[in-house]
Amino acid sequence: MTIPVTRPVLGDSELAAIASVLDSGYLVQGSRVAEFERIVAEHVGLQHAVAVSSCTSALRVALLALGIGSGHRVIVAPYSWVATANVIELCGATPVFVDIDPSTFNMDAALLRSRLDSLSRAGEIGSVRAVMPVHTFGNTAGVDDIVMVADEFSIPVIEDAACAVGATVEGRPAGSLGTIGCFSFHPRKIITTGEGGMLVTDDDDLAGFARTFRNHGQRVGVARPDVHEHRRRAAAHALAARHVHAAPFTAQRGARGRQPGAERAGVDHVVLRGRAFLMRMIENRRLDTTTASRNVHRSGRTRTATPRWSNSPIGSAHRRTPSGSTATRLTK
Ligand SMILES: Cc1ncc(COP(=O)(O)O)c(C=O)c1O
Repeated sequence: MTIPVTRPVLGDSELAAIASVLDSGYLVQGSRVAEFERIVAEHVGLQHAVAVSSCTSALRVALLALGIGSGHRVIVAPYSWVATANVIELCGATPVFVDIDPSTFNMDAALLRSRLDSLSRAGEIGSVRAVMPVHTFGNTAGVDDIVMVADEFSIPVIEDAACAVGATVEGRPAGSLGTIGCFSFHPRKIITTGEGGMLVTDDDDLAGFARTFRNHGQRVGVARPDVHEHRRRAAAHALAARHVHAAPFTAQRGARGRQPGAERAGVDHVVLRGRAFLMRMIENRRLDTTTASRNVHRSGRTRTATPRWSNSPIGSAHRRTPSGSTATRLTK
């Protein structure tokens, strides 16, 4: 038997929650999705939570809600799952990569400042429409500094908090620091709905756009044919609503100045070279591995000068599963 990278913990109460949704005949959106949105909004302390079909959708809707498209630039961390940069290209905008701090895996706020300064000096700062930091592996370290720098330049922040549901930065929930936060409920995340995502914000207009966009431009009392797509949530979100009740959000995972893996090992940071070899060694011991987060700047359509740290096959993170056991995962 191989021990999987992660495995969702599903029991009788989840099966009962799903059965009750199937029984209701209401399989898309519905009251359980609304309940889940309410719970998430309450947890992050924001006015709005809008459930969509994945975090990728949430990120894309966030960009569109901010009016981002052709001719615009979005600053993004190059070390992430490819969705983070892909959605920028999908909107017709250009990802601009600012390298990570090797001690946290997260975007380096000092490098962000110098990039914004140089764009400002070149008279190009107006094209930068958002900064998109990632809470890598749910580690929140330094994301508040990134928000502070973006604020100085009056640039909105979209937090890719895909893996950071329940994490905090100095006591503030991940996803609530910037203009919009986006969560994933993919089976490898803290809580799961199968596929699923959520966008959170305090801004009424942005939330209104997201609610309308996810449902073909229709909303109660609103129909905007110019704003449409199908990104509704299946009532499987009921599953997550159940999870949230059963296992309250995790405590802070991010330690300022240290990668989660490095902290456990008692070193400053972890850089792995020869990933394929390492993965084979781990697999020989019947532990499953996977490659997910990567040097996005080398794998997308927009190739660019090589950020230093993000180009290393970095990535060893430990994740505490709800059952209390610790699964080692290489990336994602
Ligand atoms: C950092 C990051 N952003 C975005 C995503 C995309 O999430 P989803 O699979 O829900 O679209 C992931 C998924 O692994 C991720 O790790």
